[in-house]
Amino acid sequence: MTKIRWGLLSTANINKALIPAIRASARGELVAVASRDHTKAEAYAQEWAIPQAFGSYEEMLQSGAVDAVYIGLPNHLHAEWSIKAMQAGLHVLCEKPFATSLAEVDAMIAASQKTGMMLAEAFMYRHHPQTKIAGEIVRAGKLGEITLLRGTFDFFLPETQRQPENINVRLVPEWGGGCQWDVGVYPMSFAQFIFGGPPEWVFGAQKIGASGVDEVFAGQMGYANGRLAQISSSFATPFHTFIEIIGTQGRLHLSKPFVGLDEGRKLTFTPKDGPDEEIVVPEKALYLGEVEDLHAAILDGVPSYLTLEETRNHVKTVLALYESAKTGKIIRPQ
Ligand SMILES: NC(=O)c1ccc[n+]([C@@H]2O[C@H](COP(=O)([O-])OP(=O)(O)OC[C@H]3O[C@@H](n4cnc5c(N)ncnc54)[C@H](OP(=O)(O)O)[C@@H]3O)[C@@H](O)[C@H]2O)c1
Repeated sequence: MTKIRWGLLSTANINKALIPAIRASARGELVAVASRDHTKAEAYAQEWAIPQAFGSYEEMLQSGAVDAVYIGLPNHLHAEWSIKAMQAGLHVLCEKPFATSLAEVDAMIAASQKTGMMLAEAFMYRHHPQTKIAGEIVRAGKLGEITLLRGTFDFFLPETQRQPENINVRLVPEWGGGCQWDVGVYPMSFAQFIFGGPPEWVFGAQKIGASGVDEVFAGQMGYANGRLAQISSSFATPFHTFIEIIGTQGRLHLSKPFVGLDEGRKLTFTPKDGPDEEIVVPEKALYLGEVEDLHAAILDGVPSYLTLEETRNHVKTVLALYESAKTGKIIRPQ
């Protein structure tokens, strides 16, 4: 096998980001799409020039036409279909959040171990040079001792996506909706990347909207040696993202931490006593890294850059944040 034949499991909006990434990769080709509805799958295949269309997810899994699937389903279906795909002998790139319970995450990891199929969380920004450079700057000690990380991911879900006939999957409680699950995971996972593991304690607070899910969420997280993180997310305010990492010798600011090609993003180092220093980041399409990483895992036996242990900790921390928001108590993730 020299090229990985990819299938898209659903016609999700987010596919639009993955299709060019798979096509731009040296060792991937997009060969199929599956939808719950055959007509929809056919129309989608035609629109995106995908050779094969399947009228059910199961049909694609059993077809023998694909080696790997990309899962962009609503959050509550990630575990079920990742496991079914691996049991069918397919490798899996599954969207964040991986699952909404630790039991599901553990079942996914167990399925990967049992079948030998590769399984990875599709956290695209972790593979981007901007994130890796930020990590290198921190680990080289340029900021001194890190004291605090803060960051946010906010955007606005319009009224049209709040109507029952056109409800956005992010607003349905039983489908793993909520802004912390959806976009709060970005600054939360960035903090885990910088601090090298999950927090020792978390405190969360949320505003539940008319939808029944959290539409504004704020969290404090505490790490070893008193290091802290403050994160927030929202469905109810204009688009805004940033990450700031603060240390005893300076700070690092990412104006757009979750974009790829230069869309006005700036990575700025501000030393304790000096002027701002802008750090040049190589251009790379945002979603290409996660695709290439899975290819390397399958074809070269290279361990995934984002480990399943890190992924499990992402879910563990979000669950603790929600428990804290619900109970009003500080929670120590177990
Ligand atoms: N990494 C990123 O940058 C990024 C960005 C956006 C979203 N995401 C993640 O991607 C996932 C999908 O988000 P999205 O906005 O693309 O969702 P979406 O457009 O609503 O697509 C979800 C797809 O799932 C399928 N589906 C199966 N059961 C469904 C159900 N009960 N209700 C609705 N759809 C169902 C549908 O495809 P068929 O009708 O074809 O079966 C639908 O098109 C989420 O996990 C989200 O967190 C990641």
